[in-house]
Amino acid sequence: MNYIYRSKKAVKKNRMKILLILTLIFFVTALIIFIFCYPKFDNKKQQIIKPAKVRIGFAMGTLKEERWFKDRDILIAKAHERGYEVEWVNANENDVEQINQVKYLLSKNINILIIVPNNYEKCSGAVNLAKKRGIKVISYDRLVKNSDIDVYISFNNYKVGELMAKWLLKSVPRGNYVFLLGDPGDYNVQMIKEGYHKVLDSFINKKQINNILERYCYNWRKEYAYNYINNLLEEGKRIDAVLASNDSLAEGAIMALSEKRLAGKVPVTGQDADISACQRIVKGTQLMTVYKPIDRLVDLTLEIVDKLIKEEPLKSVYMLNNGYKNVPTFFIDPIGVDKSNINDTVIKDNFHTWDEVYITK
Ligand code: BGC
Repeated sequence: MNYIYRSKKAVKKNRMKILLILTLIFFVTALIIFIFCYPKFDNKKQQIIKPAKVRIGFAMGTLKEERWFKDRDILIAKAHERGYEVEWVNANENDVEQINQVKYLLSKNINILIIVPNNYEKCSGAVNLAKKRGIKVISYDRLVKNSDIDVYISFNNYKVGELMAKWLLKSVPRGNYVFLLGDPGDYNVQMIKEGYHKVLDSFINKKQINNILERYCYNWRKEYAYNYINNLLEEGKRIDAVLASNDSLAEGAIMALSEKRLAGKVPVTGQDADISACQRIVKGTQLMTVYKPIDRLVDLTLEIVDKLIKEEPLKSVYMLNNGYKNVPTFFIDPIGVDKSNINDTVIKDNFHTWDEVYITK
C-alpha cells in the first residue's frame, strides 16, 4: 500500500519534470523563431524585402497587321525595363479563343490585364472574368463595350477618320468616293466612320461628293477591299477617291486599281504606316497613311499600369461611355503622313529607316 502510494508520488513528480522540460522547449523554440523572424517585424528592414514582380497579361485579339508585332515587342521590352513580367497571347481573331486565353492568363496569376478585344461586344465576358478576380483591366487601342474596364487607352480614332477625309478632300474636292471600312466588330471602325462623316457629310449632302460604296471588310481582310474596287471597275463605275481604313485595305484597293492601270491616279488613304504603305507613298501609288507612334501608346499604357498597381487616381481628360459606365479615356493624336512629311515623322522617329522606305528591292 505504502509502496503503491510512493510510486504514485514518483509518477506525479516525473510528470511535473516532463511538463517543465516541454515548457522550456516551447519557450526556447519561440525565442529562436522570434530571433530569426525579427527583421520581418522591423519596419525599416521590411522595406528592403523586394515585392514580387508585377505580372502583366497581354491578351491580343490579332497579330495580322505589322503594327501589332510592334505593339507586342515594344510593350514587352518597355515593361521589362520597368521590372514587370509580361505573359502575352494572341487569339488570332477568334472570340472563343480570346476568352480561353484570358482564363489562361488568370491562371498564371497576372496582376493586371491589358486587352485588345477582337470583338468589342463579345470580349466583355473576358473582362468580367478578370474583374471578378479583382484584376484591373486596360482596354488597349480598341474599346471593349458594355464592360467594367478600368481605362481605355488609344489613338484618337475619330481623328484617324478625320485625317483621311481631310487629305482626300484636298486632293479630290468633288467626285465619286468609295469608303472601305474595317471589321464591324472593331469599335475603332465606328469611330473612324464618325470621323470621316463629320468632315465629308456637308459635301455629300451638297452632292459635291458621291458616296458610291461604303462597306465593311470583315477581319480587316484586304481581299474584300480588292473585290469591292474590282467589281466597281468591272461595272464601269468611275472611282475618284478611296478611303481605305488601314494599310492592308489600301493594299487590296491599290492592287485592283493597278490591274486597270489606275494605281497612282486614284488617291487612296490608309492607316498604320506599314512599311509597304510607306513605300507606296514615296512611289506615289498611295496618297497617305495615318501614322500612330506605338511607343507613345506603350509608354502611356505602362505609366497607367504603374498607377493602377499603386492604386493611384487616373487623371484622364476624356470620359467615354462604353454602354456600361463612363470610362477614363486617354487619347493620343494620330499623324497624317504623305510624301511631304514622311521624313520628318515616320523616318525621324525611326519607325522605319530611310533605307527601308526608299530602297525597295
Ligand atoms: C487598329 C488598326 C489596325 C486594325 C486591324 C484597328 O483596331 O486601330 O491600327 O490596322 O485594327 O488590325
